[in-house]
Amino acid sequence: MQNSILNNQAFYNLTPIAIELVDFINDGEDARHFRFRLPSPQSIDKPEPGQFFMLSVPGAGEAPFTFTVTPNDQGVFRALVRKMGEVTTALFQCQPGDILGIRGPFGKGWPVNALANKKILMVAGGCGLAPLAGLIDQLITSHHHKHLALVYGARNRALQMLNPERLRWQQELSLFDVLEDTGSTQASTEENHILEGTPLDAMDSVLRTLDWTPDTLLLCGPEVMMSAAAKNFIQRGLSAQAIWLSIERRMHCAVGLCGHCYLSEHHLAHHYVCKDGPTYRWDHLQPPEKN
Ligand SMILES: Cc1cc2nc3c(=O)[nH]c(=O)nc-3n(C[C@H](O)[C@H](O)[C@H](O)COP(=O)(O)OP(=O)(O)OC[C@H]3O[C@@H](n4cnc5c(N)ncnc54)[C@H](O)[C@@H]3O)c2cc1C
Ligand code: FES
Repeated sequence: MQNSILNNQAFYNLTPIAIELVDFINDGEDARHFRFRLPSPQSIDKPEPGQFFMLSVPGAGEAPFTFTVTPNDQGVFRALVRKMGEVTTALFQCQPGDILGIRGPFGKGWPVNALANKKILMVAGGCGLAPLAGLIDQLITSHHHKHLALVYGARNRALQMLNPERLRWQQELSLFDVLEDTGSTQASTEENHILEGTPLDAMDSVLRTLDWTPDTLLLCGPEVMMSAAAKNFIQRGLSAQAIWLSIERRMHCAVGLCGHCYLSEHHLAHHYVCKDGPTYRWDHLQPPEKN
């Protein structure tokens, strides 16, 4: 007789695979860019940009993180982690060689096919740059995207993340760093091409600098920032169907079983961010229009 539990894909998706912490670099205040190694590249399905995994730290628990770099031929992948609470504090105490666990990849990534030949503006805030990192590398490598810009907002210089990556990306795309607190003179800010305020404060200046008009907007960061940016671009004439965002919810199972990530403000019934997100098109998150 067949065992229905063992035939259930969700059962396998709940079982972590052992991974090794290879090394890490400090990358922004209280943030580290980690490298991990899978037993083999085939140990998990190939992740798409924007998908996430559950990282388990023995004795502390599990938490979701995004692949900034997906597994290579040696099974090595990367994730940027900001220290927040129990799991991440325990992770920051780990050393190269320590064994941790991974489940995934989970969720829906960025709509890579729909992005072909689009004029893409990405707006990220703080740690929200992590879910865009893999996508940026893929878009740059595919050479299809001549119109690519990133506006990256952080509170101050110390909190800017993915610093080596941003240095590399600025050779390939239009990069605008925006700081709420520049902590420097106007001359030094201009010299370093840093804009002041929030990404939205800087948007008029960004759009004036670009010699093209974005037809696609990708958002990742604090929800208040994403909501304001989406509404702002709709007012500028962008269609709601051209705006995508990645959202965060507390997660436990990551496979649609526990209900912790239920999107209660959503007009669709039974919607779980772990399965149906974390990437959404803006209009799919809005209440239906009243007739
Ligand atoms: C799909 C997804 C992808 C993510 N990718 C990354 C990533 O690439 N890098 C990264 O650093 N973080 C990422 N996060 C956030 C990360 O999962 C949380 O910071 C993590 O759960 C913290 O775990 P902890 O046990 O250390 O802290 P906890 O003890 O769980 O929390 C510490 C504090 O943060 C708050 N908090 C934690 N998680 C959330 C959340 N999801 N929403 C709102 N408040 C929260 C808690 O209320 C508490 O105040 C992602 C989250 C999701 C849902
Ligand atoms: S985290 Fe359990 S249903 Fe989404």
